[in-house]
Amino acid sequence: MIVTELIEMKRDGMEASAEQIRFMVNGFVSGEVSDAQMAAWMMAICIRGMTPRETGELTLAMMHSGDVVDLSDLPGVKVDKHSTGGVGDTTTLVAAPLVAACGGTVAKMSGRGLAHSGGTLDKLESVPGVCVEQPLDRFKRIVRDLGVCVIGQSGDLVPADKKMYALRDVTGTVQSIPLIASSIMSKKLASGADAIVLDVKTGGGAFMKTVEDSAALAREMVRIGDSLGRRTAAVITDMNRPLGMAIGNGLEMKEAVDVLSGRVPESDPLVRVCLTLGGHMLRLSGLAKTREEAERKLLHALRTGEGLRRFRAMLGRLGGDVSYVDEPERLVRAAELVPVASRASGFVSAIDAKKLGVAAALLGAGRFKKDDVIDPAVGILMKKRYGDRVEAGEPFAVLYVNSRERFAEAYEMISSAVTVSQEPPKEIPLVYEVIE
Ligand code: URA
Ligand code: CA
Repeated sequence: MIVTELIEMKRDGMEASAEQIRFMVNGFVSGEVSDAQMAAWMMAICIRGMTPRETGELTLAMMHSGDVVDLSDLPGVKVDKHSTGGVGDTTTLVAAPLVAACGGTVAKMSGRGLAHSGGTLDKLESVPGVCVEQPLDRFKRIVRDLGVCVIGQSGDLVPADKKMYALRDVTGTVQSIPLIASSIMSKKLASGADAIVLDVKTGGGAFMKTVEDSAALAREMVRIGDSLGRRTAAVITDMNRPLGMAIGNGLEMKEAVDVLSGRVPESDPLVRVCLTLGGHMLRLSGLAKTREEAERKLLHALRTGEGLRRFRAMLGRLGGDVSYVDEPERLVRAAELVPVASRASGFVSAIDAKKLGVAAALLGAGRFKKDDVIDPAVGILMKKRYGDRVEAGEPFAVLYVNSRERFAEAYEMISSAVTVSQEPPKEIPLVYEVIE
Protein backbone atom coordinates (compact mmCIF):
# COMPACT_ATOMS: atom_id res chain seq x y z
CA MET A 1 0.00 0.00 0.00
CA ILE A 2 1.14 3.52 -0.77
CA VAL A 3 0.50 6.13 1.92
CA THR A 4 0.00 9.05 -0.49
CA GLU A 5 -2.67 7.10 -2.37
CA LEU A 6 -4.55 6.42 0.88
CA ILE A 7 -4.44 10.14 1.72
CA GLU A 8 -5.65 11.06 -1.78
CA MET A 9 -8.48 8.53 -1.53
CA LYS A 10 -9.70 10.10 1.69
CA ARG A 11 -9.24 13.58 0.21
CA ASP A 12 -11.56 12.56 -2.64
CA GLY A 13 -14.15 11.16 -0.26
CA MET A 14 -13.73 7.47 -0.97
CA GLU A 15 -14.28 4.78 1.66
CA ALA A 16 -11.15 3.12 3.07
CA SER A 17 -11.01 -0.61 3.77
CA ALA A 18 -10.24 -2.09 7.18
CA GLU A 19 -6.81 -3.12 5.90
CA GLN A 20 -6.04 0.39 4.66
CA ILE A 21 -7.10 1.96 7.96
CA ARG A 22 -4.96 -0.50 9.95
CA PHE A 23 -2.04 0.27 7.65
CA MET A 24 -2.29 4.01 8.40
CA VAL A 25 -2.69 3.57 12.18
CA ASN A 26 0.01 0.91 12.63
CA GLY A 27 2.33 2.72 10.22
CA PHE A 28 1.96 5.91 12.22
CA VAL A 29 2.75 4.16 15.51
CA SER A 30 5.81 2.45 14.00
CA GLY A 31 7.04 5.63 12.29
CA GLU A 32 6.55 4.52 8.67
CA VAL A 33 3.75 7.03 8.23
CA SER A 34 5.10 10.53 8.95
CA ASP A 35 3.46 13.22 11.08
CA ALA A 36 2.76 15.23 7.91
CA GLN A 37 1.06 12.26 6.24
CA MET A 38 -1.05 11.43 9.31
CA ALA A 39 -2.03 15.08 9.71
CA ALA A 40 -3.09 15.27 6.05
CA TRP A 41 -5.12 12.05 6.36
CA MET A 42 -6.84 13.26 9.54
CA MET A 43 -7.59 16.65 7.96
CA ALA A 44 -9.21 14.79 5.06
CA ILE A 45 -11.28 12.85 7.63
CA CYS A 46 -12.27 16.13 9.31
CA ILE A 47 -13.56 17.50 6.02
CA ARG A 48 -14.92 14.33 4.35
CA GLY A 49 -16.07 12.41 7.42
CA MET A 50 -16.07 8.63 7.71
CA THR A 51 -18.73 6.01 7.13
CA PRO A 52 -19.90 4.14 10.25
CA ARG A 53 -17.95 1.11 9.03
CA GLU A 54 -14.75 3.14 8.67
CA THR A 55 -15.16 4.72 12.14
CA GLY A 56 -15.64 1.25 13.64
CA GLU A 57 -12.51 -0.05 11.88
CA LEU A 58 -10.51 3.00 12.96
CA THR A 59 -11.59 2.39 16.58
CA LEU A 60 -10.53 -1.26 16.39
CA ALA A 61 -7.19 -0.45 14.79
CA MET A 62 -6.47 2.12 17.51
CA MET A 63 -7.65 -0.17 20.31
CA HIS A 64 -5.26 -2.93 19.14
CA SER A 65 -2.28 -0.59 18.76
CA GLY A 66 -1.22 -1.43 22.35
CA ASP A 67 -2.22 -3.44 25.42
CA VAL A 68 -5.82 -4.55 25.92
CA VAL A 69 -6.80 -5.07 29.57
CA ASP A 70 -8.55 -8.33 30.43
CA LEU A 71 -11.00 -7.98 33.32
CA SER A 72 -12.81 -11.25 32.62
CA ASP A 73 -11.58 -12.84 35.85
CA LEU A 74 -13.56 -10.28 37.88
CA PRO A 75 -17.13 -11.33 38.67
CA GLY A 76 -20.18 -9.53 37.30
CA VAL A 77 -20.68 -6.91 34.61
CA LYS A 78 -17.73 -4.49 34.65
CA VAL A 79 -19.17 -1.05 34.08
CA ASP A 80 -17.27 2.10 33.17
CA LYS A 81 -18.32 5.70 32.75
CA HIS A 82 -16.70 8.39 30.69
CA SER A 83 -17.25 12.11 30.48
CA THR A 84 -16.19 14.05 27.39
CA GLY A 85 -14.79 16.69 29.72
CA GLY A 86 -16.50 19.30 31.82
CA VAL A 87 -15.92 22.06 34.35
CA GLY A 88 -16.78 21.58 38.01
CA ASP A 89 -17.86 18.11 37.03
CA THR A 90 -17.13 15.64 39.81
CA THR A 91 -19.53 12.90 38.73
CA THR A 92 -17.08 9.96 38.74
CA LEU A 93 -16.09 10.49 42.38
CA VAL A 94 -19.76 10.36 43.40
CA ALA A 95 -21.39 7.95 40.95
CA ALA A 96 -18.70 5.22 40.98
CA PRO A 97 -18.84 4.45 44.75
CA LEU A 98 -22.65 4.73 44.81
CA VAL A 99 -22.92 2.19 41.98
CA ALA A 100 -20.50 -0.10 43.86
CA ALA A 101 -22.61 0.26 47.00
CA CYS A 102 -25.59 -1.01 44.95
CA GLY A 103 -23.70 -4.15 43.91
CA GLY A 104 -22.09 -2.84 40.71
CA THR A 105 -18.51 -3.51 39.61
CA VAL A 106 -16.76 -0.30 38.61
CA ALA A 107 -13.23 -0.86 37.29
CA LYS A 108 -12.28 2.47 35.83
CA MET A 109 -9.16 3.84 34.22
CA SER A 110 -9.25 7.60 34.16
CA GLY A 111 -7.38 10.51 32.63
CA ARG A 112 -5.80 13.76 33.72
CA GLY A 113 -7.13 17.25 33.19
CA LEU A 114 -5.99 19.30 30.25
CA ALA A 115 -6.61 22.99 29.49
CA HIS A 116 -9.94 24.08 30.96
CA SER A 117 -11.35 20.69 31.83
CA GLY A 118 -10.53 18.82 35.04
CA GLY A 119 -9.36 15.23 35.32
CA THR A 120 -10.39 12.58 37.81
CA LEU A 121 -6.81 11.48 38.55
CA ASP A 122 -5.78 14.99 39.61
CA LYS A 123 -8.83 15.17 41.89
CA LEU A 124 -7.97 11.80 43.49
CA GLU A 125 -4.39 12.95 44.08
CA SER A 126 -5.62 15.98 46.06
CA VAL A 127 -5.86 13.54 48.98
CA PRO A 128 -2.30 13.22 50.34
CA GLY A 129 -0.76 9.81 49.75
CA VAL A 130 -3.07 8.66 46.94
CA CYS A 131 -1.17 6.86 44.19
CA VAL A 132 -3.17 6.39 40.98
CA GLU A 133 -0.52 4.26 39.30
CA GLN A 134 -1.20 0.73 40.47
CA PRO A 135 -0.30 -2.67 39.04
CA LEU A 136 -3.21 -4.38 37.32
CA ASP A 137 -3.48 -7.24 39.83
CA ARG A 138 -3.71 -4.80 42.74
CA PHE A 139 -6.34 -2.78 40.87
CA LYS A 140 -8.37 -5.95 40.36
CA ARG A 141 -8.03 -6.94 44.02
CA ILE A 142 -9.43 -3.56 45.12
CA VAL A 143 -12.34 -3.90 42.68
CA ARG A 144 -13.02 -7.40 43.96
CA ASP A 145 -13.04 -6.22 47.60
CA LEU A 146 -14.87 -2.89 47.26
CA GLY A 147 -16.72 -3.05 43.92
CA VAL A 148 -14.90 0.08 42.82
CA CYS A 149 -11.45 1.31 41.93
CA VAL A 150 -10.35 4.26 39.81
CA ILE A 151 -6.71 4.42 38.65
CA GLY A 152 -4.64 5.85 35.80
CA GLN A 153 -4.23 3.93 32.57
CA SER A 154 -1.84 1.09 33.26
CA GLY A 155 0.55 -0.31 30.72
CA ASP A 156 0.65 0.86 27.13
CA LEU A 157 -2.99 1.54 26.36
CA VAL A 158 -3.82 2.85 22.88
CA PRO A 159 -0.44 4.38 21.94
CA ALA A 160 -2.01 5.32 18.58
CA ASP A 161 -4.37 7.72 20.35
CA LYS A 162 -1.58 9.40 22.33
CA LYS A 163 0.31 10.11 19.10
CA MET A 164 -2.73 11.00 17.01
CA TYR A 165 -4.22 13.28 19.66
CA ALA A 166 -0.94 15.18 20.11
CA LEU A 167 -0.90 15.78 16.35
CA ARG A 168 -4.59 16.72 16.18
CA ASP A 169 -4.05 19.25 18.93
CA VAL A 170 -1.58 21.23 16.76
CA THR A 171 -3.13 20.73 13.31
CA GLY A 172 -6.74 21.87 13.79
CA THR A 173 -8.09 18.33 13.57
CA VAL A 174 -9.66 17.88 17.01
CA GLN A 175 -13.21 18.77 15.91
CA SER A 176 -14.28 15.68 14.01
CA ILE A 177 -16.93 13.22 15.14
CA PRO A 178 -15.22 10.09 13.74
CA LEU A 179 -11.87 11.14 15.25
CA ILE A 180 -13.32 12.01 18.68
CA ALA A 181 -15.55 8.90 18.78
CA SER A 182 -12.69 6.54 17.83
CA SER A 183 -10.31 8.26 20.27
CA ILE A 184 -12.67 7.89 23.22
CA MET A 185 -14.06 4.46 22.37
CA SER A 186 -10.68 2.87 21.59
CA LYS A 187 -9.55 3.75 25.13
CA LYS A 188 -12.78 2.54 26.76
CA LEU A 189 -12.65 -0.75 24.81
CA ALA A 190 -8.95 -1.30 25.59
CA SER A 191 -9.55 -0.82 29.31
CA GLY A 192 -11.78 -3.87 29.42
CA ALA A 193 -15.30 -2.80 30.46
CA ASP A 194 -18.41 -4.81 29.47
CA ALA A 195 -20.72 -1.82 29.79
CA ILE A 196 -20.04 1.86 29.18
CA VAL A 197 -22.04 4.95 30.15
CA LEU A 198 -20.96 8.05 28.27
CA ASP A 199 -21.62 11.53 29.63
CA VAL A 200 -21.49 13.70 26.53
CA LYS A 201 -21.31 17.35 27.49
CA THR A 202 -22.92 20.05 25.42
CA GLY A 203 -22.57 23.83 25.43
CA GLY A 204 -19.96 26.54 25.91
CA GLY A 205 -17.73 24.56 28.28
CA ALA A 206 -17.77 21.40 26.11
CA PHE A 207 -16.10 20.05 22.95
CA MET A 208 -19.47 20.04 21.23
CA LYS A 209 -21.29 23.36 21.45
CA THR A 210 -24.75 22.30 20.23
CA VAL A 211 -27.12 19.56 21.35
CA GLU A 212 -27.32 18.32 17.73
CA ASP A 213 -23.53 17.85 17.46
CA SER A 214 -23.34 16.27 20.91
CA ALA A 215 -26.14 13.84 20.01
CA ALA A 216 -24.41 12.94 16.75
CA LEU A 217 -21.17 12.19 18.64
CA ALA A 218 -23.11 10.21 21.25
CA ARG A 219 -24.91 8.13 18.60
CA GLU A 220 -21.62 7.31 16.90
CA MET A 221 -20.02 6.15 20.17
CA VAL A 222 -23.05 4.09 21.20
CA ARG A 223 -23.08 2.46 17.77
CA ILE A 224 -19.38 1.55 18.05
CA GLY A 225 -19.83 0.12 21.57
CA ASP A 226 -22.90 -1.91 20.63
CA SER A 227 -21.33 -3.24 17.45
CA LEU A 228 -18.40 -4.57 19.50
CA GLY A 229 -20.64 -6.29 22.05
CA ARG A 230 -20.44 -3.69 24.83
CA ARG A 231 -23.66 -2.46 26.41
CA THR A 232 -23.40 1.27 25.79
CA ALA A 233 -25.57 4.27 26.63
CA ALA A 234 -24.96 8.00 26.34
CA VAL A 235 -26.48 10.87 28.28
CA ILE A 236 -26.28 14.40 26.85
CA THR A 237 -25.76 16.80 29.77
CA ASP A 238 -25.46 20.57 29.99
CA MET A 239 -22.10 22.35 30.12
CA ASN A 240 -23.34 25.92 29.59
CA ARG A 241 -22.47 26.38 33.29
CA PRO A 242 -20.28 24.45 35.71
CA LEU A 243 -22.16 21.42 37.05
CA GLY A 244 -21.15 21.73 40.70
CA MET A 245 -20.10 24.75 42.74
CA ALA A 246 -16.41 23.76 43.02
CA ILE A 247 -13.73 24.12 40.32
CA GLY A 248 -10.30 22.88 41.40
CA ASN A 249 -9.01 19.52 42.58
CA GLY A 250 -9.23 19.64 46.39
CA LEU A 251 -12.41 21.74 46.13
CA GLU A 252 -14.04 19.14 43.88
CA MET A 253 -12.85 16.28 46.09
CA LYS A 254 -14.39 18.10 49.06
CA GLU A 255 -17.61 18.62 47.10
CA ALA A 256 -17.76 14.90 46.25
CA VAL A 257 -17.19 13.99 49.92
CA ASP A 258 -19.88 16.50 50.93
CA VAL A 259 -22.34 14.91 48.48
CA LEU A 260 -21.54 11.37 49.67
CA SER A 261 -21.85 12.54 53.30
CA GLY A 262 -25.38 13.83 52.67
CA ARG A 263 -24.40 17.48 53.18
CA VAL A 264 -25.64 18.52 49.71
CA PRO A 265 -29.39 18.55 48.95
CA GLU A 266 -30.61 15.71 46.72
CA SER A 267 -32.12 18.31 44.38
CA ASP A 268 -28.66 19.77 43.64
CA PRO A 269 -27.73 19.61 39.91
CA LEU A 270 -24.50 17.67 40.59
CA VAL A 271 -26.43 15.10 42.64
CA ARG A 272 -29.14 14.84 39.95
CA VAL A 273 -26.62 14.18 37.17
CA CYS A 274 -24.76 11.62 39.35
CA LEU A 275 -28.05 9.80 39.99
CA THR A 276 -28.83 9.81 36.25
CA LEU A 277 -25.40 8.47 35.24
CA GLY A 278 -25.31 6.01 38.14
CA GLY A 279 -28.81 4.86 37.20
CA HIS A 280 -27.73 3.98 33.67
CA MET A 281 -24.67 2.20 35.07
CA LEU A 282 -26.94 0.07 37.27
CA ARG A 283 -29.34 -0.61 34.39
CA LEU A 284 -26.58 -1.69 32.01
CA SER A 285 -25.18 -3.87 34.81
CA GLY A 286 -28.54 -5.64 35.12
CA LEU A 287 -28.99 -4.37 38.70
CA ALA A 288 -32.07 -2.22 38.04
CA LYS A 289 -34.86 -2.52 35.52
CA THR A 290 -36.20 1.00 35.54
CA ARG A 291 -34.91 4.48 36.15
CA GLU A 292 -37.06 4.66 39.32
CA GLU A 293 -35.66 1.43 40.73
CA ALA A 294 -32.09 2.58 40.01
CA GLU A 295 -32.65 5.93 41.67
CA ARG A 296 -34.22 4.31 44.74
CA LYS A 297 -31.17 2.05 45.16
CA LEU A 298 -28.68 4.86 44.64
CA LEU A 299 -30.47 7.15 47.11
CA HIS A 300 -30.43 4.32 49.65
CA ALA A 301 -26.63 3.98 49.17
CA LEU A 302 -26.29 7.74 49.59
CA ARG A 303 -28.52 8.06 52.68
CA THR A 304 -27.03 5.09 54.52
CA GLY A 305 -23.48 6.36 53.92
CA GLU A 306 -22.51 3.13 52.12
CA GLY A 307 -21.31 5.12 49.08
CA LEU A 308 -19.06 7.23 51.32
CA ARG A 309 -17.75 4.13 53.08
CA ARG A 310 -16.72 2.57 49.73
CA PHE A 311 -15.13 5.80 48.56
CA ARG A 312 -13.16 6.26 51.77
CA ALA A 313 -11.99 2.63 51.65
CA MET A 314 -10.94 3.01 48.00
CA LEU A 315 -8.85 6.11 48.78
CA GLY A 316 -7.25 4.24 51.68
CA ARG A 317 -6.36 1.28 49.45
CA LEU A 318 -4.77 3.71 46.98
CA GLY A 319 -2.51 4.90 49.80
CA GLY A 320 -4.50 8.01 50.74
CA ASP A 321 -4.73 9.57 54.20
CA VAL A 322 -8.45 9.05 54.84
CA SER A 323 -8.53 11.54 57.72
CA TYR A 324 -8.93 14.11 54.88
CA VAL A 325 -12.23 12.45 53.98
CA ASP A 326 -13.38 12.89 57.57
CA GLU A 327 -12.26 16.54 57.61
CA PRO A 328 -12.44 17.61 53.96
CA GLU A 329 -11.89 21.32 54.71
CA ARG A 330 -8.22 20.35 55.18
CA LEU A 331 -8.10 19.68 51.42
CA VAL A 332 -8.56 23.34 50.59
CA ARG A 333 -6.23 25.25 52.90
CA ALA A 334 -5.07 28.04 50.61
CA ALA A 335 -3.06 31.11 51.66
CA GLU A 336 -5.80 33.57 50.68
CA LEU A 337 -9.53 33.49 50.02
CA VAL A 338 -10.49 36.28 47.62
CA PRO A 339 -14.17 37.08 46.95
CA VAL A 340 -15.25 38.17 43.47
CA ALA A 341 -18.10 40.66 43.75
CA SER A 342 -20.86 41.27 41.25
CA ARG A 343 -20.74 44.70 39.61
CA ALA A 344 -24.51 44.87 39.16
CA SER A 345 -27.70 43.70 40.87
CA GLY A 346 -29.96 41.22 39.07
CA PHE A 347 -30.00 37.57 38.10
CA VAL A 348 -27.10 35.37 37.03
CA SER A 349 -28.15 34.86 33.40
CA ALA A 350 -25.02 33.29 31.90
CA ILE A 351 -21.91 31.57 33.24
CA ASP A 352 -19.05 30.89 30.86
CA ALA A 353 -17.89 27.49 32.16
CA LYS A 354 -14.88 27.41 29.85
CA LYS A 355 -13.58 30.76 31.15
CA LEU A 356 -13.98 29.53 34.73
CA GLY A 357 -12.06 26.37 33.87
CA VAL A 358 -9.21 28.36 32.29
CA ALA A 359 -9.18 30.81 35.23
CA ALA A 360 -8.96 27.95 37.74
CA ALA A 361 -6.03 26.57 35.73
CA LEU A 362 -4.36 30.03 35.86
CA LEU A 363 -4.67 29.92 39.65
CA GLY A 364 -2.75 26.62 39.55
CA ALA A 365 -5.60 24.06 39.47
CA GLY A 366 -4.87 22.87 35.92
CA ARG A 367 -2.23 22.37 33.27
CA PHE A 368 -1.48 24.28 30.11
CA LYS A 369 1.41 21.94 29.30
CA LYS A 370 1.54 18.24 30.13
CA ASP A 371 4.25 18.67 32.79
CA ASP A 372 2.77 21.68 34.63
CA VAL A 373 2.46 20.97 38.37
CA ILE A 374 -0.99 21.21 39.96
CA ASP A 375 -1.76 22.86 43.31
CA PRO A 376 -4.59 20.80 44.85
CA ALA A 377 -5.72 23.53 47.27
CA VAL A 378 -6.52 26.29 44.74
CA GLY A 379 -9.49 27.04 42.54
CA ILE A 380 -12.91 28.65 42.48
CA LEU A 381 -15.89 28.08 44.75
CA MET A 382 -19.07 29.47 43.19
CA LYS A 383 -21.50 31.16 45.56
CA LYS A 384 -24.21 31.73 42.96
CA ARG A 385 -25.73 29.47 40.36
CA TYR A 386 -27.33 30.12 37.01
CA GLY A 387 -30.65 31.92 37.70
CA ASP A 388 -29.75 33.08 41.24
CA ARG A 389 -30.43 36.62 42.45
CA VAL A 390 -27.25 38.64 43.19
CA GLU A 391 -26.78 42.19 44.54
CA ALA A 392 -24.11 44.66 43.45
CA GLY A 393 -21.04 44.16 45.66
CA GLU A 394 -22.13 40.67 46.71
CA PRO A 395 -19.61 37.90 45.93
CA PHE A 396 -20.69 35.36 43.31
CA ALA A 397 -17.49 33.35 43.79
CA VAL A 398 -14.55 32.94 46.19
CA LEU A 399 -11.08 32.25 44.86
CA TYR A 400 -8.69 29.93 46.71
CA VAL A 401 -5.26 31.40 46.02
CA ASN A 402 -1.71 30.32 46.83
CA SER A 403 0.21 32.29 44.21
CA ARG A 404 -0.27 35.80 42.84
CA GLU A 405 1.69 34.98 39.70
CA ARG A 406 -1.24 34.86 37.26
CA PHE A 407 -3.86 36.04 39.70
CA ALA A 408 -4.81 39.31 37.96
CA GLU A 409 -5.47 37.50 34.68
CA ALA A 410 -7.55 34.85 36.45
CA TYR A 411 -9.54 37.42 38.44
CA GLU A 412 -10.39 39.40 35.32
CA MET A 413 -11.47 36.26 33.50
CA ILE A 414 -13.74 35.17 36.35
CA SER A 415 -15.29 38.64 36.62
CA SER A 416 -16.15 38.54 32.93
CA ALA A 417 -17.41 34.92 33.02
CA VAL A 418 -20.64 35.78 34.80
CA THR A 419 -23.39 37.89 33.21
CA VAL A 420 -26.01 39.58 35.38
CA SER A 421 -29.29 40.72 33.83
CA GLN A 422 -32.46 42.40 35.07
CA GLU A 423 -34.79 39.55 34.13
CA PRO A 424 -34.43 35.97 35.41
CA PRO A 425 -33.02 33.81 32.58
CA LYS A 426 -34.95 30.96 30.97
CA GLU A 427 -34.44 27.54 32.49
CA ILE A 428 -32.02 25.25 30.70
CA PRO A 429 -32.20 21.48 31.04
CA LEU A 430 -29.52 19.53 32.92
CA VAL A 431 -30.06 16.38 30.87
CA TYR A 432 -31.12 16.78 27.24
CA GLU A 433 -31.30 13.31 25.84
CA VAL A 434 -30.45 9.66 26.46
CA ILE A 435 -29.16 7.59 23.57
CA GLU A 436 -28.88 3.81 23.65
N1 URA B 1 -11.47 13.19 24.45
C1 URA B 1 -10.70 12.22 23.93
O1 URA B 1 -10.27 11.32 24.63
N2 URA B 1 -10.43 12.25 22.60
C2 URA B 1 -10.89 13.22 21.79
O2 URA B 1 -10.61 13.19 20.61
C3 URA B 1 -11.69 14.23 22.36
C4 URA B 1 -11.97 14.18 23.69
CA1 CA C 1 -12.54 12.71 31.26
